[in-house]
Amino acid sequence: MKYQRIKGTIDILPSETGKWIYLEEIIRNVMARFNYKEIRVPIFEPIELFARDASESTYVVNKEMYTFTDMGGRSVALRPEGTPSVVRAFIEESLGNKAPLTKVFYIGPMFRHEKPQKGRQRQFHQFGAEALGSADPRIDAEIIAISVQVLKDCGIDQFEVALNSVATPSVRAKHREKLLEFVRPLASQFPEVDREKIDRNPLRLFDSKLELTRQLLQGAPLLEQFYDDEVRRDFDIVKETLTRLGIPYASDPRLVRGLDYYTRTAFEIRSSLLGAQDSLSGGGRYDLLVEELGGDPTPAVGFAAGMERTLIVMEAVGKSDYSEKPLDIFIIAESAAERTQALLLTKQLRDSGKTVDLDYLGRSQKAQMKEASRQNARFVLFAFADDIPGGRFQCKNLSTGEQQKLPIDEITSLIA
Ligand code: HAM
Repeated sequence: MKYQRIKGTIDILPSETGKWIYLEEIIRNVMARFNYKEIRVPIFEPIELFARDASESTYVVNKEMYTFTDMGGRSVALRPEGTPSVVRAFIEESLGNKAPLTKVFYIGPMFRHEKPQKGRQRQFHQFGAEALGSADPRIDAEIIAISVQVLKDCGIDQFEVALNSVATPSVRAKHREKLLEFVRPLASQFPEVDREKIDRNPLRLFDSKLELTRQLLQGAPLLEQFYDDEVRRDFDIVKETLTRLGIPYASDPRLVRGLDYYTRTAFEIRSSLLGAQDSLSGGGRYDLLVEELGGDPTPAVGFAAGMERTLIVMEAVGKSDYSEKPLDIFIIAESAAERTQALLLTKQLRDSGKTVDLDYLGRSQKAQMKEASRQNARFVLFAFADDIPGGRFQCKNLSTGEQQKLPIDEITSLIA
């Protein structure tokens, strides 16, 4: 039997983890600058957390969730996103009582049973931020600003921020009625995948990538025509704040997010460098979710971004200076006595914080030299038997070729 990865998953190999760590460092740095603290929530949760209302939940409808029954007979899901888990933890741990405003971020794997393609996997990684406790539309702009800042710090500026307000349930209900009046007579003309949205959630028709659906929607009533004063005012503040922060955006009255919990601000950051799956990040306000999951009414806003997609764009713009820390020293030793000495030297150097390696494959001195340069070691240190009694060893700088015989503490400072 030949074992293979599950379709839609990837191995992030040692040769690639350097760029992941680089990206994670940027994320942590930006989150710290915006004063968001890391939260780590479980990877599996009770299924109901993600599938509250079977008629509406995108994951259930699209059969996108990885679910199983555990040994205790509980229905469990691998998390398809982080937001519901953060909200659950917020309620369960009473975070709202510990601080008036909770600002958290997360980095980690998510699972969706989607058709794999470039930029779309079944196990993928997101980083995201959530702010729970403020209804101020300026914090919506802060959330967008975080997402933009990470991209900028990654050296990416080919992206667009698309912005909309999906308003409130009462505004949506009024719009839905008019939209249904418009689309019902055309129902039979819609492509099948979109036709079923008409009864379930007609707003999602605007989400369609199908040309026919787009054509049929020409002249359809838009949600913005139904905004009340408050929705309009909040949306204006978000836009003004973004302008003040120097973040260009495009209003997109057809932007509807794929998840059902959004109210008011909704946004997506897209990059043409991505191809069909062009969304780098997305988010918005979800003022009703905390209450819906059993907490006190708490306004909230957040975003999540795809890490694989961010890395694809970083590569496309030629960002490649995430080279890893090179190996400081490779110790060369052949005889048994030399190898024992090499172990001691290795320990001393590692204890002083140096990155050190040595041969465990019984290779010749020449082969070890080759290995040192394959690993881009800065120095080699020769544990020659003749030098052991004197405790001074030959140390060679591989980039200058300079060689000196020194005691170990001087070698340590030479390498620093
Ligand atoms: P989302 O739009 O479903 O939002 O996902 C956010 C980002 O995750 C996408 O823009 C994309 O970059 C990445 N992504 C999603 N699915 C995949 C996939 N199958 N493969 C690779 N990347 C993918 C959310 O998840 C919300 N929780 C965002 C949010 C936070 N809203 C409020 N707070």
